[in-house]
Amino acid sequence: MIAPILPGATIGVLGSGQLGRMFAIAARRMGYRVHTFSPDVDTPTGQVADVEVTASYDDLDAVADFARRVSVVTFEFENVPAPTAQAAARCAPVRPKGAILHTTQQRIREKSFLTKAGLPITPYREVRSLDDLDRALAELGYPTVLKTAAFGYDGKGQFKIDSPGQIREAWNAVQEQESVLEAFLDLDCEISVVAARGADGQFVHFGAIENQHARHILDLSVAPARVEPKIAAEAVDMARVVLEKLEVVGVLCVEFFVARDGKLLINELAPRPHNSGHLTVDACVTSQFEQQLRAVCGLPLGSTEMHRPAAMANLLGDLWANGEPNWLAACAFPDMKLHLYGKLEPRPGRKMGHLTALNHDAEAAYRTVKNARASLL
Ligand SMILES: Nc1ncnc2c1ncn2[C@@H]1O[C@H](COP(=O)(O)OP(=O)(O)O)[C@@H](O)[C@H]1O
Ligand SMILES: [Mg+2]
Repeated sequence: MIAPILPGATIGVLGSGQLGRMFAIAARRMGYRVHTFSPDVDTPTGQVADVEVTASYDDLDAVADFARRVSVVTFEFENVPAPTAQAAARCAPVRPKGAILHTTQQRIREKSFLTKAGLPITPYREVRSLDDLDRALAELGYPTVLKTAAFGYDGKGQFKIDSPGQIREAWNAVQEQESVLEAFLDLDCEISVVAARGADGQFVHFGAIENQHARHILDLSVAPARVEPKIAAEAVDMARVVLEKLEVVGVLCVEFFVARDGKLLINELAPRPHNSGHLTVDACVTSQFEQQLRAVCGLPLGSTEMHRPAAMANLLGDLWANGEPNWLAACAFPDMKLHLYGKLEPRPGRKMGHLTALNHDAEAAYRTVKNARASLL
C-alpha cells in the first residue's frame, strides 16, 4: 500500500495539452498544486497549472529537476519517451508506471500484450519492409489499413489499402517505418471503456461509451452507449483484465470495434483519460480526471454514477475557417456545457474544445449536441 498524497501536495504532469488542462482543473479544485512539463509555452495545461516548465523531453536533467519538485508524476502525453519516464522515476513515483507507456505507445508491443492476455483483436501482421507488406496483403486480403507502429494519433500515420495498386503509396504514407497491417473491418459501431484502478487494486469504470469518428478523428461520443447490455458488460470485463494485467495505477481507456457480426474486438489502448471520457466531467459524480488524480495520489476512487445521459461533440479547428464560432448560440442551449482548451491556433483537425449535452436519454442528448455544434457556424 502506498502512502496517500494529500491535498496541498504538488502533482507533476508530463505533457501540456487539453488532457493535462482538465486534470489540472480537477487537481486544483481539490487543493493540489500542479506543475506541467513540455517543450511548449502558454499551453492548455500551463494556462491553468501553478508552474509551466518548458524543456525538451530529451533534457533528462530538466526532467529530473521537474520530478524532484513534485510528490508524484503522471502524464497526459502517451508518447513521452521511455528514458524521460525513467529519469522522472528516479526522483518521484511515476503513475501509471513507465512500463505501461512502453507497452501502449507502440502498436506491435500493444497487440502482443493483448494477444498474450487472451483478448480479441483485429487480425494483423507486422510490417518492416515492402516485401513484408506484400506478404501481409496476400494473407489478409482487402481492404486493410496500414498504421505506423509508433506515434500515431487521430488517424495520423494511417493509410487504407483497397487494392494492390496502392501498395507503394501506402508504404510511402507510413514513411517506410515499422508498421502494422490490419484487416479493415465492417463495423457496426465503436465503443470505449474508460476505467480507473487504484494502487490497492480498486477498479471503477464509466460503462460503455459509444464513439463516432469522422476522418479517423473522434467526432461524437454518447453515454451510455446504445449497444446491447451484453456487449457493454463484455467490454467492461475486458477492460478490467487490461487494467489488472498491466497493473495500472491511474486511468486507462480501451477502444473497441463492434463488428457487424456482433463480435467485440479491442482496437487500441490509451493509458490516460480519453477524449471519449470528456463527458464524464459534466455527467458523472467523479470525472475521469478526478479518478486519475485519486488513483495516482493513492486516494479512494470516486463514484462513476451518471447524473444524466450525455453526449459530447468535438470542436475542431475547422470550425474557425470563417472566423470565431458563434459561442453565444451554443450557450443559448441551457443543458449544454462549453469547454475550450485555450489553444491559440485553430488548425484544421486540431482539437480546440468540446460541447457536452445532458438530457433525460442518450438519444436526446446526441441530437442536442449536434444541433448546438451546428449553431456555432
Ligand atoms: N482495422 C480497422 N477497421 C475499421 N476501422 C478502423 C480500423 N482501424 C482504424 N479504423 C478507424 O480509424 C479510427 C482511428 O484508428 P486508431 O487505430 O484508433 O488510431 P488513432 O491512434 O489515430 O486513434 C478508428 O477509431 C476507426 O474509426
Ligand atoms: Mg484510436
